[in-house]
Amino acid sequence: MIPLDFTGKVALVTGVGDNESFAWFIAKSLQAAGAKVALACHPRVMGIVESFLTRDADRESRLLPDGTEFKPVKVLPCNAEYDTMDDVPAEVKSDRRYAKFAEYSIKGTVDAIAAEFGGIDVLIHSVAFGREVTKPLIDTSRKAYHEAMGISAYSLTSMVRAAAPHMANRPGGASVVGLTYVAGERVVPHYGGGMATCKAALQIDAKQLAWFVGDKNIRVNLISAGPYASRAARAINKDFDKLIDHAAEHSPLRRPIGPQEVADSTVFLCSPLASAVTGQILYVDCGYNVMGT
Ligand SMILES: NC(=O)c1ccc[n+]([C@@H]2O[C@H](COP(=O)([O-])OP(=O)(O)OC[C@H]3O[C@@H](n4cnc5c(N)ncnc54)[C@H](O)[C@@H]3O)[C@@H](O)[C@H]2O)c1
Repeated sequence: MIPLDFTGKVALVTGVGDNESFAWFIAKSLQAAGAKVALACHPRVMGIVESFLTRDADRESRLLPDGTEFKPVKVLPCNAEYDTMDDVPAEVKSDRRYAKFAEYSIKGTVDAIAAEFGGIDVLIHSVAFGREVTKPLIDTSRKAYHEAMGISAYSLTSMVRAAAPHMANRPGGASVVGLTYVAGERVVPHYGGGMATCKAALQIDAKQLAWFVGDKNIRVNLISAGPYASRAARAINKDFDKLIDHAAEHSPLRRPIGPQEVADSTVFLCSPLASAVTGQILYVDCGYNVMGT
């Protein structure tokens, strides 16, 4: 039998912003494979995510292959800028969108999920933010560059550090998967604000983290996804469709990727089928990365 049964596994998925996020498809697929799925969402999108999880109009986007609906066991707020609540500035704590939550740091969120569900088997990092992503690198401010690095790259290290004690020596091992983009290795001029640098950092960090937690049978891998018009990506770049068309035309498979393909590969990486795979970048991009154009 092919071992793709996640029954009894606990998955913590970050980065669901709406029902088009890669993380939405990943979370659904992990539940479809049998896992209990907890979401950790940016505090400012909690209301939006709750509505996608409950509104009749969005029911279709919640459907799993067996006809049941996606239903996370928990949805917690988590701002990936903060390792603990001690890092949160006073003006953020008093902001009306934050004041209703007592805890939204990485460590607090990870500890809460582990305490409630008895540990963590799967951790998904699908978080990115670049305030000046529409500005080319050469025009990016130092402040925006550092902010992008903290949220989009360092947060993986922070999450793995917080989760490692809860993921150590789980039956069959545990797995961390993050999302990267080819712009971390090759020049994609429009991908600005320091975001390409974030992805380059994320890629070497994932390899280093694989070493640091490998002795606890925790694997760390990244998926390098082809361009996909999530709501956020469309908002960032009005010509995003042209970019997708270009990648599709120049990919060996000559088509764009779909978000379900990223979810399927994530489930593979988290499964016993990938038990010896760690520190790797799996390209889910219809082969675009191998081309010279
Ligand atoms: N869409 C693409 O073309 C593409 C391609 C390759 C890789 N990726 C990567 O995939 C991942 C998910 O992107 P997506 O396309 O699903 O877009 P998305 O906007 O749906 O996901 C990004 C998520 O990051 C969250 N986020 C931003 N700042 C945060 C913070 N401070 N704390 C917590 N969460 C925060 C947002 O709320 C959002 O849910 C990102 O790492 C992105 O770089 C995207």
